[in-house]
Amino acid sequence: MKRWTLDDIPWDKLDRSKVDRDVLAVVKAASLVEHNGGDYATYLCNVFGDDPEFQEVAKAWALEEVQHGQALGKWARIADPDFNFDAAFKRFTDGYRLPLEATSSVRGSRTGELIARCIVETGTSSYYTALGEATDEPVLREICRHIAADELRHYKMFYTHMKRYLEREPLGFFMRVKIALGRVLESEDDELPYAYFAANGGGSYERRRFSQAYIRRAYSYYRPHHVERGIAMVLKAVGANPNGWLGRFLSALSYRFMQYRVRRLAIAETTGG
Ligand SMILES: [Fe+2]
Ligand SMILES: [Fe+2]
Repeated sequence: MKRWTLDDIPWDKLDRSKVDRDVLAVVKAASLVEHNGGDYATYLCNVFGDDPEFQEVAKAWALEEVQHGQALGKWARIADPDFNFDAAFKRFTDGYRLPLEATSSVRGSRTGELIARCIVETGTSSYYTALGEATDEPVLREICRHIAADELRHYKMFYTHMKRYLEREPLGFFMRVKIALGRVLESEDDELPYAYFAANGGGSYERRRFSQAYIRRAYSYYRPHHVERGIAMVLKAVGANPNGWLGRFLSALSYRFMQYRVRRLAIAETTGG
């Protein structure tokens, strides 16, 4: 059962004077990726073909992801009446396809698949927390608060099943780190840049250009405490100590790197480089 619905959002309080153009652009992109969650459930049900308990959980999870897309899409449509969500979603799914026909995980094992899902939920829970705290627009803050709470719950759900699978399909520590790192790096692959392109247009699709446009905005909302919590969640997912020196070191390093990229990309955008 869903914990909240679109009716719980106070849409009449949306203040268009507080809508930032960059925030609007990333919310449009996020609405498409989230709304595509139903396809991911199809993939997970194939991969976990003999696990009806997990299939049920995956289907319920996907409904919540689709609802995230609906809420963000509705906010973007009210904030920008020229935004055509349906046309943008079609452009996105026409150009970006998940491996729906796969019957085994693209991560090499089911434990690996669940680790990758933990990484994705880490990314979304920290991202919506950061975005919600960065915006002054009250309705978007409320939407982000609901979504971030869902994403944290999703992380816990995938983590619980990952622990269960770890006993059936053991995976060494370094393999877990490799999968987690691979999924972190993948976040700069096609899905988000293509969604950014499909939602915002601007010429033909070039991965590098749209990836940079997306990252320059998305990374700018993070503050040190968002990164610290995200790193702790990643470390927990791979079986490392989430609260030790390694977490502090990686958090400081990641935050500096993100800030550096935001600065570099902002300069490149203004100079056309
Ligand atoms: Fe989501
Ligand atoms: Fe999620």
